[in-house]
Amino acid sequence: MVIEITQDEIKQNITKDVLSKLPQWFGADSVNIYVRQSVDSPFFTYMDKGQYIGFVFLKLHNSYSAEICAMGVVENYRRNGIGRALMAKCLDYCIEHNIEYLQVKTLDSSFPDYYYNITRDFYTAMGFRPLECIPTLWDEESPCLIMIMHVASQIQKVLPKSKCF
Ligand SMILES: CC(C)(COP(=O)(O)OP(=O)(O)OC[C@H]1O[C@@H](n2cnc3c(N)ncnc32)[C@H](O)[C@@H]1OP(=O)(O)O)[C@@H](O)C(=O)NCCC(=O)NCCS
Repeated sequence: MVIEITQDEIKQNITKDVLSKLPQWFGADSVNIYVRQSVDSPFFTYMDKGQYIGFVFLKLHNSYSAEICAMGVVENYRRNGIGRALMAKCLDYCIEHNIEYLQVKTLDSSFPDYYYNITRDFYTAMGFRPLECIPTLWDEESPCLIMIMHVASQIQKVLPKSKCF
């Protein structure tokens, strides 16, 4: 079940707990950055038997656009539609708040990485499309790919179609 979290302390705990279980994607420094950024954000988590299995939170840029700031699902629960369900909640939030465009920043394929290949496949399946690679935004070994979606035209494709709802 996906629920919205409004208490900042719980957002921070979930972000730390889940991202710390994903060392192939997130080092300790970036976990701490995302924990700080989770405060004041629209935040959704997937709970199963009292455990936080996954989460996503948004950064609101302006009245037209928002960003998937961080997202993760713990390993044993992946590929069951939880990421899709979390994304659907983000799109619902955008529609409710008249936000037209959603972006996400991730590692570009010019830096080959098995794990971020999965991330890009997921975002592509959700309807995001590559907009631009900015090689210098992060650091030399992390070329940043900006992906975008037009929310209203993608929401029907993202709505949960399977397993966990
Ligand atoms: C990306 C992530 C959130 C996806 O979560 P998930 O619950 O496994 O995703 P879903 O089961 O909802 O997958 C939805 C669709 O995405 C695509 N997808 C997901 N995982 C994939 C994979 N390993 N390989 C290829 N496509 C994949 C598929 O099209 C899938 O639909 P299908 O299963 O019906 O074919 C999860 O893999 C994760 O936590 N990765 C590590 C952290 C990360 O990358 N975070 C995002 C960067 S901030």
